[in-house]
Formats: sequence, C-alpha cells, structure tokens
Amino acid sequence: MTSARVYGSGHANLDRDPDLLFLILQNLKRAIDIGSDEGADTRALFGMELLAYAEAHFEHEEKLMERCQYPDAAAHKEEHRRFRMHNAECRSSASRGCG
Ligand SMILES: [Fe+2]
Repeated sequence: MTSARVYGSGHANLDRDPDLLFLILQNLKRAIDIGSDEGADTRALFGMELLAYAEAHFEHEEKLMERCQYPDAAAHKEEHRRFRMHNAECRSSASRGCG
C-alpha cells in the first residue's frame, strides 16, 4: 500500500511526494539500525537526501499554494520557514559535534 492511499489528498500532484519521503525514511531507519561506525556514511547520506527531499517538497508545495491561491498559504509557508531554521540549527550543532 502506498502512503498516498493512507495519507493522500486525492491529488496526484501532491500525493507522489510522500511515497518518496517514506522510501527515504525506510532507508534511513535501516541505516540507523546498523548502528555502527560502518553505517555512519550511509546515515549521513540518507539524512542529506531527506533534507533535499524536504526542500524540494516545500518549494513544490509553495508554488502550488500560490497558483491555487490557498487561503492559509502564509501560515503554511511560516511552518516551512520554521522547519528550515530548525534544520539549519541541527546541522550547525552536528557540525560542531554537539548535536
Ligand atoms: Fe507543507
């Protein structure tokens, strides 16, 4: 069963994104389950893939909200902005070795 069947909006344009997200998360979980230094590079790779996915998804969603004149677009874009800031803080902490 695809995530779209469980969480979908019914709009193919939006519903294919979560399938990719779930695939990345499954791969990241497998890499975390390895749990050794051996899996560190794989975890980092899937972590970067997840951030790239999120950014592409946000851009796609924000364009759709503008095109459809979604009434809560400003509030939703603010959620994206906070997520981006949180990610930047986490990456900064991780690069300093304290995250
Ligand atoms: Fe969103």
